[in-house]
Amino acid sequence: METKKTQVAIIGAGPSGLLLGLLLDKQGIDNVILERVTGDYVLGRIRAGVLEQGFAKLVREAGAAEKMDTLGEVHDAVEFAFNNDRVELKLEELTGEDVIVYGQVDITKDMMEEREKRGLETVYEATKVQPHEVKSETPYITYEKDGVKYKLECDYIAGCDGFHGVSRQTIPEDVRTEYEKVYPFGWLGLMADVKPINPHLIYAKNDRGFALASMRSQTRSRYYIQVPLEDKIEDWSDEAFWDEFEKRMPESARKNLTRGPSIEKSIVPTRSFICEPLQYGNLFLVGDAGHIVPPTGAKGLNLAASDVATLYKIMTKVYKEGDKKCIEQYSPIALRRIWNGVRFSWWMTDLLHNFDETKDEFDRKMETSELSFFLKSEAGRKVIAEQYVGLPYEDLK
Ligand code: FAD
Ligand code: DHB
Repeated sequence: METKKTQVAIIGAGPSGLLLGLLLDKQGIDNVILERVTGDYVLGRIRAGVLEQGFAKLVREAGAAEKMDTLGEVHDAVEFAFNNDRVELKLEELTGEDVIVYGQVDITKDMMEEREKRGLETVYEATKVQPHEVKSETPYITYEKDGVKYKLECDYIAGCDGFHGVSRQTIPEDVRTEYEKVYPFGWLGLMADVKPINPHLIYAKNDRGFALASMRSQTRSRYYIQVPLEDKIEDWSDEAFWDEFEKRMPESARKNLTRGPSIEKSIVPTRSFICEPLQYGNLFLVGDAGHIVPPTGAKGLNLAASDVATLYKIMTKVYKEGDKKCIEQYSPIALRRIWNGVRFSWWMTDLLHNFDETKDEFDRKMETSELSFFLKSEAGRKVIAEQYVGLPYEDLK
């Protein structure tokens, strides 16, 4: 077995792991990333598109923001459509903030390239990654690469390995509590090189279900529709998708829909999931490794970013000031923001999807009434907008 050493060992080269690694490096904190798959495989996951300014600020601090700041689109508004009623939420006017539309694939690629440029070590296709002795002062990770066994000694382990990773499983079952709600539908997403149906995103709901019109640029659209969980991707030809998507858009927008061949099409399940606590000894869960939200509120990646911000501040304090006590602040600070994001995502999901067969006519009337109450009052629009652009990050004590 070959032995290596670093200060912070990061498991997972998704957006959480890459962002954390670059930020730590800026503070002179040595780190190595272990990733199960290839870089190209990581870049094959389309996923998020909306970045809060808090996230963007961190990317700038990490030194990987050049493309995001030139190619990303600043959106000062989003739209909600309920049947054929359309309401624009003027984010900037309501909150003083906007969001950036820039794809997860692009931001991941930018951070990968920056990491490579700085000569920071990322081990792709690392198999059998396993943290050990995480409660001790001398934690380590074992893994294999090209048939060779390695031991990576470190001070801290950041579990940035997503929902199916190994890090969360390392916390003993009697220490962690998991909260979960699985929704009975998935999101079918389609990417196409066509002009977006609308200058801003449209979150739409009608009797046929939910649809989201998003984009990556003025020439690339990213659209989603709610589909039954049992549906398979083979059930959905491009034509079937376009037909259904069009029917879920408000009538006044339909004439602006341009169809085109899909360049990607996939179905993702939707769930809310939270693990408490997010720290166990010298192991920290970051991003999807510790929590998942349904995509409706565009919060998953943004919550990952606030976890990274908290852990980064803690690691800086540990290494610059020798204050090891502050590591206990990670879980409570991160969880406070996470539960807010979970609540917002749950609320948006509940309100904008048709799924609860147990709901009766009264419940449906209440849903309509709630949506119109929030969208028709300025105070209501502000409540949604404040959360959509992202709540502030909490500082360490
Ligand atoms: P991941 O991206 O899952 O990365 C984890 C990495 O760890 C992966 O590369 C994986 O291969 C690696 N790994 C796993 N196990 C191991 C192991 N044992 N050893 C080594 N490596 C391992 N969020 C938003 O904020 N805004 C949005 O608009 C938005 N839209 C979304 C739309 C869709 C359709 C979906 C599905 C998600 C969306 N999200 C959105 C959520 C967002 O994509 C995730 O929250 C984000 O990917 C989390 O990043 P992460 O780095 O924590 O985890
Ligand atoms: C996108 C995804 C989301 O979940 C969302 O709420 C907004 C945009 C997107 O992929 O563009």
